[in-house]
Amino acid sequence: MSDFVSVAIDGPAGAGKSTIARRVAAELGYLYVDTGAIYRTVGYHMSLMGIGPKDTDGIRRCLDDVNIDVRYGEDGLQHMILNGADVTDAIRTPEMSAMASGVATQSCVRDYLLDMQRNLARTNNVLMDGRDIGTVVLPNATVKIFLTASVGVRAERRFKELVAKGQDVKYEDIYTDIVKRDEQDMNRPIAPLRCADDAEVVDSSQMSIDQVVAELKAIIRKKAGK
Ligand code: DC
Repeated sequence: MSDFVSVAIDGPAGAGKSTIARRVAAELGYLYVDTGAIYRTVGYHMSLMGIGPKDTDGIRRCLDDVNIDVRYGEDGLQHMILNGADVTDAIRTPEMSAMASGVATQSCVRDYLLDMQRNLARTNNVLMDGRDIGTVVLPNATVKIFLTASVGVRAERRFKELVAKGQDVKYEDIYTDIVKRDEQDMNRPIAPLRCADDAEVVDSSQMSIDQVVAELKAIIRKKAGK
């Protein structure tokens, strides 16, 4: 058994996982690992190489050239380094959301990223968010949380977030993207998005960020004793 505490937070796109998880991790002094950013980085590399998300052979071949480093700035923010270049901002577009969801259906990509994610939890107290953390990556996590919200609420949050970043997006497109991504993430044969049997479900549809943060900290305190 590891001496480190691991908190797995899974849930669908736009449920607020990263905003909430980043805050909870900072308040508890845990390392925050956003695994979606790692899939986005792989997707970004494939799109630079002109390889589509369904091209299994091309992706497998190209994975040999993918060198991903997860670095943490002084501010505690997770930076994604792809072959030496910081791609933290470039991976945050609707195109890269779709690309990440696409390459994430490929077993070679999931296998390739598994050790990287597990190693981070072996050497730190972590709060890791994604789709399969409680079910596949850290099945023995100290605490498992499934954070969800209605599709309408998630689309609205994602829309506001992208508009605030100055991106020219339409609400209807974001809504359709989220429905498509849910469908792809939940129905893929390998490591689909699903709630672990021993996870606590938190529906954030009617909750403020502060309320969700408080709720998660209470769950973690109860289960991890800290
Ligand atoms: O959390 P996110 O929206 O940044 O994730 C982007 C995509 O990556 C998501 O649609 C599915 C995939 N993903 C995954 O399959 N497994 C994870 N643990 C995290 C993300």
